[in-house]
Amino acid sequence: QIADRKGIRRGKLRLGVVTTAKYIAPELLAAFGGQFPGIEFSMKVSNRDEIIQRIQNGEDDLYVMGQVPDDEVDVESVPFALNPLTVMVPRGHPLTRLEKPVSLAAISKAPFLIRESGSGTRHAYLRLFAEKNLRPHIVMELSSNEAIKHAVASGLGVSILSIHSLALEGTGGPIEVLEAEDFPILRQWFLVYPKGKHLSSTAQKFLDFSVSQEQFITDRLLHLWPELRHHL
Ligand code: PGA
Repeated sequence: QIADRKGIRRGKLRLGVVTTAKYIAPELLAAFGGQFPGIEFSMKVSNRDEIIQRIQNGEDDLYVMGQVPDDEVDVESVPFALNPLTVMVPRGHPLTRLEKPVSLAAISKAPFLIRESGSGTRHAYLRLFAEKNLRPHIVMELSSNEAIKHAVASGLGVSILSIHSLALEGTGGPIEVLEAEDFPILRQWFLVYPKGKHLSSTAQKFLDFSVSQEQFITDRLLHLWPELRHHL
């Protein structure tokens, strides 16, 4: 059931999102809920591997992922917004004084804070390092983007995160986006659901609504990190 604009009928939407998408999904839900009052939302935030498990177990109506599962589970997917990953360093870090764009080789020598295995973000940047025959100098593993941000700001190391993770504090705060070769890694999000599953009208409406917000999300990113326009 979808609640109409008069808010007469009620609907339910259970979302499962990867951790990079938690910086945007609540705003989408707020805007969507404004159009369709009366819908009850739940949102589970997990890493990629855990979201794949939730799809396999049929726990949610719709999922947001940074990469469509290949073999693990059969899904339908719709691309909907940009999710660029960049190198983040504490403001004034020695890497910022090197000639730009800073090479991945230089970045690989700095103490690196890595996400837990099962993270799609981690997959994406480890693939890049491997393609260049490099390995990051890992000093700590942390299972949260927020913990990584605090660790970067505390000077424990550098890392690679979604630009969206700076949505609230912006790029002028304690964490600086490093201008680096091979970055941003231009990833995308996808709305995903199990193949053959009939979407509820609430889930279908949310999917259509999210796709319609693509330009808004790109504009928000460009506002947050204007350099992105050189990479689009
Ligand atoms: P994650 O997010 O790193 O939390 O798994 C995944 C993604 O954006 O693919």
